[in-house]
Amino acid sequence: MQVRQLFDGDSSTYTYLVWDPPSQCAALIDPVLEQVDRDLTLVEELGLTLVHVLETHVHADHVTAAGLLRERTGALCCAGQHGAPCADRHLVHGDAVRLGESTITALATPGHTDDGLSYRIAGAVFTGDTLLVRGCGRTDFQNGDAGQLHDSITRILFALPDESIVYPGHDYRGQTASTIGEEKRWNCRIAGRDRDAFIAAMADLRLPPPRRLAEAVPANRACGSPPAS
Ligand code: FE2
Repeated sequence: MQVRQLFDGDSSTYTYLVWDPPSQCAALIDPVLEQVDRDLTLVEELGLTLVHVLETHVHADHVTAAGLLRERTGALCCAGQHGAPCADRHLVHGDAVRLGESTITALATPGHTDDGLSYRIAGAVFTGDTLLVRGCGRTDFQNGDAGQLHDSITRILFALPDESIVYPGHDYRGQTASTIGEEKRWNCRIAGRDRDAFIAAMADLRLPPPRRLAEAVPANRACGSPPAS
C-alpha cells in the first residue's frame, strides 16, 4: 500500500491518501472540505480511483469533505458505529475495508470521542486523534472518556508491533509520524503514568473549546453538509 500525507494548515489536520498500486484503488482518510480540490487533483494525477472515504471520528475542528467526495466520485463513506449517521458503512472493530488486493482493518479506539476508529494497514496505523505524536486527543466533549482512551491506546494500539508507523490525525509542532515503540517510550501523556493518573491529567487540561466546534460537529454528522434547518 502506498501512503501520501496531506496537511490542512488552518486546522493542523492530516489527511491521508492510501492506495493499492496493482488496482489503483484509493481511500482518503479524514479529508477536509476546504482541500477537496487539492485532494481530487492528486487522485486524478496519480491515476487512482477513489473508492472509500474513511473517517476516524466526527471532527470538532474542521468540516469533512466526505459528502462532497461521495457526490463527486461515488466513493463510499465509512465511519464508526456511533459515527456520522450519513455514512454508507458503519464499521466495528475488526471490520475490513477492501482496496483492490489490499485490506484496511478498522480498530475501535474510542475515548477522544465515542465513535473513534483507527485504521490499520500493513506496517502502519492511522490513529486519528486517539494517539498523536507525543500526545493524544482531548476527552472533554463528544462523549469523550479518558479511561476509555487509555484503554484504546494501551490495549489496542500498543498491542501492534513496535515498528508500526503511527500516522496521527493532527500535529501542532511539525511532527509528521511516529512509531508505536516510540510512543510507548516517549508519549508524555501515557508513558510512566497509570490509568488513574492519566484520567486525572486529562481532567486537568482545561483547554478552551475548539474554534469551530458548534459548526463542525453538526456538519460532520451530515458528512459535511450544513444541517437542515
Ligand atoms: Fe478530534
